[in-house]
Amino acid sequence: MTPTTLLTGQTLCFHGDPFATHWDDAVIYEAHGAVAIADGRITAVGPATTLKQAHPHATVIDHGNGLILPGFIDAHVHYPQTGMIASWGKRLIDWLNTYTFPEELKFADPAYARAMADLYFDTVLANGTTSVASFCTVHSASVTAFFEAAAARGMLVVGGKTCMDRNAPDGLLDTAQTAYDDSKTLLNQWHGRGRSRYAITPRFSPTSTPDQLAAMGALWAEFPDCLMQTHLSEQTDEIAWVKTLYPEARDYLDTYEAHGLLGPGGLYGHAIHLEPREIARLAEVDASLVHCPTSNTFIGSGLFAAMDFCTAGQRVGLATDTGGGSSFSMLRTMAAAYEVGQLRGTPLHPAQLLWLATAGSARALRMEAEIGTLAPGMAADLVVLDLASTPSIAQRSARATDIWEAVFPTIMMGDDRAVRGVYVVGNARGFASD
Ligand code: GUN
Ligand code: ZN
Repeated sequence: MTPTTLLTGQTLCFHGDPFATHWDDAVIYEAHGAVAIADGRITAVGPATTLKQAHPHATVIDHGNGLILPGFIDAHVHYPQTGMIASWGKRLIDWLNTYTFPEELKFADPAYARAMADLYFDTVLANGTTSVASFCTVHSASVTAFFEAAAARGMLVVGGKTCMDRNAPDGLLDTAQTAYDDSKTLLNQWHGRGRSRYAITPRFSPTSTPDQLAAMGALWAEFPDCLMQTHLSEQTDEIAWVKTLYPEARDYLDTYEAHGLLGPGGLYGHAIHLEPREIARLAEVDASLVHCPTSNTFIGSGLFAAMDFCTAGQRVGLATDTGGGSSFSMLRTMAAAYEVGQLRGTPLHPAQLLWLATAGSARALRMEAEIGTLAPGMAADLVVLDLASTPSIAQRSARATDIWEAVFPTIMMGDDRAVRGVYVVGNARGFASD
């Protein structure tokens, strides 16, 4: 028999969607809970006493009052932008040209790509994130570096070569044909290898010709079980530019739709300034939207209608969007999602924020059967949080009368100090005793 490990601590286990039912009906909370893991998978979740009786020979790792959750899932990032995060004073297109593209050019050097991929994954694991969906750069070596660094850490990740054939520096351009060929080669190399998943990745309509979008659409039609990630309606200037570049399109989404790039498995980052037709089509095809709240405020993009989309049942993921986002932390990202909700008059409950950062993102990535909840059969990708990680958080959570009030100060004020450690397929990482 495979040996079982029991992790004990507080547990929050979502069995429903807190946007569809009241949060208290969507979750089981155990003040003294346990998660049983064997062979890198969760085998049981429940009260510690019950699980200890059921597994008398298990190795017990006691996390005390640590809160055991599924590892955070960051549904839209640019790992190559790690080095230029927090670059000042520009809006989207200027920000890309001034800060982003010069940094992405450096990934022509495979050694640089490898070093940044290692730095990126160490950083996100320290922040409690166990899975990400990332854009790489145009360079195939940046994709190789990404998947190799993730595989070395055992992480389930989604990534893809960013394709651009116009409106970017020469060193970042491919063509319709090379984008297709290189993406296909990488896809065949990485998609389904271990825990790696390939996403077809046209950056966004302004940096692709219609021919390139069509080539990406053709590739997606050949590999429909791959995800397709891109950007949609992030800033009003960008939308106006798309109109001039694609005069025949009905709207921004139509630039993708007309080229075979709208469908289930489509991950559309930002999606802030949508027309009614776009909203209806995204719902109709069951596409995924990705909320990037720190980025949307940092770059000055706007306020995503998270509550509307989530209560409508749309697949919505939560994401840092580093380096447009200003933090690697999904705690900070949940805080920003709360603040954006407040600005829209629809504050998200802590249960909804935690769900978005775990099960919601998993659902957006169509991986809800594998990651994102504490349930038997799921991968043992976990984070253990300290709900009293700083004096200011501790004094507030000490007054809490329920788990939501106990966790909310960590959501709003927490950072990597609140992360005691993670488990990736059952392997502990980052804990003080490691
Ligand atoms: N739109 C196209 N490329 C990018 C990018 O790298 N970051 C963000 N935030 N938006 C984009
Ligand atoms: Zn992005």
